[in-house]
Amino acid sequence: MKLVIASRNKHKVAEIQTLLAGAPGLTVVSLDGYAVPQIVEDRDAFLGNALKKAVETAGYIKETVLADDSGLSVDALNGAPGVYSARYAGDGASSARLCAKLLRELEGIPAARRTARFTAALAVAAPDGRVLHTAEGIVEGVIASEIRGVNGFGYDPVFYYPPLKKTFAEMSPAEKNLHSHRYRALRELLKKLRN
Ligand code: IMP
Repeated sequence: MKLVIASRNKHKVAEIQTLLAGAPGLTVVSLDGYAVPQIVEDRDAFLGNALKKAVETAGYIKETVLADDSGLSVDALNGAPGVYSARYAGDGASSARLCAKLLRELEGIPAARRTARFTAALAVAAPDGRVLHTAEGIVEGVIASEIRGVNGFGYDPVFYYPPLKKTFAEMSPAEKNLHSHRYRALRELLKKLRN
């Protein structure tokens, strides 16, 4: 089965391609070379946005499509930035700006109240737009008091993962891929694809 990843986020695409490499019978390709208009992510939940991206993209390119909608939810901010994670510090903001804004918003909040989670929602749509599968993965962590590490993207430098005592940006890509929300969601999706 050929699966086109409906994302222009190179970091996400690379993680998904690595995580799905070796899945028997699956050829995973990026959206490079496909002409697809920007899809408006206007749903109030990760899964709603993933479904919208998968179905609309499949409709445009007539291929089987995998869409990922993901983000960070911080308890002390009532779940923000949530579905606005990519735009939290303005359109196209860098990882440094996203992290700086989050650290500012959490200034003075003690570690015990800095709990947060990454969620990845996945949806697979058939070339005719039918939804074939959905899956979700969550990883719990704590927002660090400063940025740490240089790997990854987005909020990785401030997302501290207690079991490894590291932020996601302090992990190698392989290490992040063993623990991330995306890994957990893809593991669930692969089970469904195999069945
Ligand atoms: P979207 O799914 O394209 O709407 O964007 C999700 C946004 O959430 C990304 O631009 C990142 O800012 C953030 N995000 C999602 N997954 C990760 C991750 O694995 N590490 C760090 N940030 C992430």
